[in-house]
Amino acid sequence: MNNIRPVWIDTDTGVDDAFALVSALRLPNIDVVGISTVAGNVEVEKTFKNARNVISLCQREDIKVYKGADKPLIVPLHTAYAVHGEDGLGGVVIPKSKADIEKENAYDALYKKAKELNGELVVCAVGPLTNIAITIFKYPDFVNYVKEIVIMGGSIGVGGNTTIAAEFNIYVDPHAAQTVFKSGLKITLFPLDVTMKTVLTRDELESLKDVDNDVARFCYTSSNAPTSLYKHLGLGDLMCLHDTCPLVYLNSPELFFGKEAGVYVETLSEISLGRTVSDLYVHRDELFDTNAMVMLDVKRDEVAKIVIDTFKAY
Ligand code: RIB
Ligand code: CA
Repeated sequence: MNNIRPVWIDTDTGVDDAFALVSALRLPNIDVVGISTVAGNVEVEKTFKNARNVISLCQREDIKVYKGADKPLIVPLHTAYAVHGEDGLGGVVIPKSKADIEKENAYDALYKKAKELNGELVVCAVGPLTNIAITIFKYPDFVNYVKEIVIMGGSIGVGGNTTIAAEFNIYVDPHAAQTVFKSGLKITLFPLDVTMKTVLTRDELESLKDVDNDVARFCYTSSNAPTSLYKHLGLGDLMCLHDTCPLVYLNSPELFFGKEAGVYVETLSEISLGRTVSDLYVHRDELFDTNAMVMLDVKRDEVAKIVIDTFKAY
């Protein structure tokens, strides 16, 4: 039986997004059928360029990349230059894609692909959820054509990484996130609870240093941006594979462990704006409607091996 999943990736292509794209293009059970870009880590003009250039580096210019939202639904854009650099790829310059520039916007292209695949499409969102929310608003039947959505975002039993309360992807566009969490889509969530455990160590990164392929060299060099910040913050000389988690899960679901719960987003409070609020640890039924499988644990060694071996195989 064929386990290959058609996957659409929505990304604010920064360094860990790039790692996720590079991994996805070589995972045997994933067929990337489209990519949309959104403002987040850096402005959408840069995330669009980065996604195009990264898949070109992977010699996959056959995959179409679409430009999406240039700002969140309501709040002003908050970027993450400190983590990814002003260009989004840690200052690493890679060749410019020669692929045609897609004129169609992300929302229309995503909806068309979902209808074309008639309920088989898996959406993987690894940036702010602005594009997904706009697609839901513009096409109310969109949710009927999506098999499931896997999301990197939020934090349930741990603090935030952007404010003390909120994780970046949700914080950047809390209103879009709430729209998605209330949409009825089948959600599998990868919050910081699990993505902060899914790291590459310095030794694992160093194993890429002398690999004779442009993709491995790009991943090794661009990882300097997030690892420098993590070292500065006292988190250690490592890199969190935030955005790679949902993709490795789609390929190898047995490597992740979670529980079903209700997860919703704080959109009114100033102090905890963008907090993902959940009844996961409160054992009473009447609190929240269960709307997500929340991933909390991972077989890190196995995930790290898959990712490093994938980079070396280019
Ligand atoms: O909090 C981590 C998330 O924010 C990742 O998707 C990273 O790329 C940034 O967008
Ligand atoms: Ca991202």
